[in-house]
Amino acid sequence: TDRYCVFGNPISHSKSPTIHTAFAEQTGETIEYTAIAAPLDDFAGAWRRFTAEGGRGANVTVPFKEEAFQLCDTLSRRAQRAGAVNTLLLGMNGQTYGDTTDGIGLVRDLERHAVTLAGARLLVLGAGGAVRGVLEPLLAAKPASLFVANRTAEKAEALASDFRDLGAISGGGFDSISGPFDLVINGTSASLAGDLPPLPDDLFAGGATAYDMMYGAEPTVFLQWAGERGARGVDGLGMLVEQAAESFFQWRGKRPDTAPVLEMLRRSL
Ligand code: ATR
Repeated sequence: TDRYCVFGNPISHSKSPTIHTAFAEQTGETIEYTAIAAPLDDFAGAWRRFTAEGGRGANVTVPFKEEAFQLCDTLSRRAQRAGAVNTLLLGMNGQTYGDTTDGIGLVRDLERHAVTLAGARLLVLGAGGAVRGVLEPLLAAKPASLFVANRTAEKAEALASDFRDLGAISGGGFDSISGPFDLVINGTSASLAGDLPPLPDDLFAGGATAYDMMYGAEPTVFLQWAGERGARGVDGLGMLVEQAAESFFQWRGKRPDTAPVLEMLRRSL
């Protein structure tokens, strides 16, 4: 049995073991997938121990994605751009390969919801690691424009300039948001605290979608706010399942059907 895990801290509430166990059953792969709380001061040691005990690959979540990026021997192009790794794979030669599947997970989930990115006006809220990880695939879909807005305006401006070679991206503070937008993606961690960034009321174009990378049993404050202003709301549970499916594909070469797994998770929230 090939062993995989998700590393995080804390990690006990992770849904990744449920998701990957379901993918394995569905595709007939024999794997074991567990959740491991890595020590905050020794992520590299946790990965070394896991591989020494037969581990073949891992997912990486908060707060280790940047450290995972640092320890890799080789990186996918998209991981290099993101500066973060959520998928580790042990190569035949004992080298560690790193990839990030968060961005493609978001784009697949948007496709599943029939959100058109090409030619659309996009607003992304936040300028942390979660946002950096999704900008490349969003820009690859050729939106008309992408504005990154952040509480700390300088971070949004710096992030936008890092990606300017890939498309029409710019950044600034919440006070320089100028809509309307066809798609607004909340990548801040404000929802976690039940907070809402200060947003103008006329944010959404007709038929717009509001996407929150967070999810929960109830709509997030951002999705409630967006719904009251006429936007269609989508939470990040689908992104979670899609990024997992892409990681599973990297490890096993098989693409699981995400729909039944997403349904199961939704019912269990
Ligand atoms: P992550 O890996 O989740 O992106 P991060 O790198 O710490 O975490 O980034 C958190 C993001 O959420 C940042 O954009 C942060 O804004 P600042 O850069 O100004 O700190 C944003 N954020 C966190 N709490 C927020 C709040 N209450 N209101 C608005 N933005 C918030």
